[in-house]
Amino acid sequence: MHDHHERLSLRGQTAIVTAAGAGIGRAIALEWASRGGNAVVADLHDASARAVAQSIREDDGRAIGIPLDVTHPEAMHYAVAAALATYGRIDTLFNVAGASLPRRVDEMDDSDWYRMIDINLTSVYRCSKPVIPHLRRGGGGSIVNISSTAGILAENRCSAYSAAKGGVLLLTKNMAMDYAPDHIRVNAICPGSTMTPRIQDYLDRFPGHDSLMDDICPMKRYAEPEEIARPAVFLASPDASYITGATLTVDGGLTAGKHFQIFEDA
Ligand SMILES: NC(=O)c1ccc[n+]([C@@H]2O[C@H](COP(=O)([O-])OP(=O)(O)OC[C@H]3O[C@@H](n4cnc5c(N)ncnc54)[C@H](O)[C@@H]3O)[C@@H](O)[C@H]2O)c1
Repeated sequence: MHDHHERLSLRGQTAIVTAAGAGIGRAIALEWASRGGNAVVADLHDASARAVAQSIREDDGRAIGIPLDVTHPEAMHYAVAAALATYGRIDTLFNVAGASLPRRVDEMDDSDWYRMIDINLTSVYRCSKPVIPHLRRGGGGSIVNISSTAGILAENRCSAYSAAKGGVLLLTKNMAMDYAPDHIRVNAICPGSTMTPRIQDYLDRFPGHDSLMDDICPMKRYAEPEEIARPAVFLASPDASYITGATLTVDGGLTAGKHFQIFEDA
């Protein structure tokens, strides 16, 4: 039993989690800390980041909350400095920040296109780059990128978001190859629709979408953020020591097949 707990513990390991003030990022920070790791909770909304870190500390976990805008060219310098100053090392980066915009190509301004590519795809490059030397220096580590089922299958009016999230999956595989010699593993999660505050707001505004999951998801429900966080932390943990370049879909079967029944029920 003791060995089992030792193996599962992330004690002494530090993770930076982007967009950790709410939703999936928050759930990842809580899960990481609940397993003994140090969490650097980074969010555009500084107060949310600090509140999440505070709640982790109140639960006897280790966390700091810091401001971070993943679209700012120098954003990660502060995050890296804060992680090193507080915990002395960085072992894992969770690239969670992203945003979507429902637009067909001909409905989009150039600025919409560049913003979607920037926050969803370039942010992974931008945030990973200054972290990699520290992972390498520590003897290795891991990066987990949050893509989307929209990075695998097209969705209507989702053009730039899908293109960016698909790009994240190939960037993940390229980085996995490039950094395997440094013992840095790089993996991606593709969440299906997840009940985060943003989705909850949307459903409050458009109640007709409540039953959407019944039609498109074999499990007929949204994911809870914790159901995305646990596999994300698994990919970063030593339990996934031979997993790199992988895409793990966590989608209740959403992308397992087509959403219509060819054969009548018996
Ligand atoms: N919720 C879903 O159904 C779903 C499904 C698939 C993929 N995803 C992806 O998961 C990730 C998280 O989504 P979510 O729904 O949990 O979060 P969200 O969109 O609700 O936002 C979570 C946090 O991101 C922060 N944030 C926004 N812009 C930022 C920036 N520029 N820099 C740093 N932080 C910023 C916000 O302040 C907020 O606290 C995104 O990449 C999203 O594309 C979400």
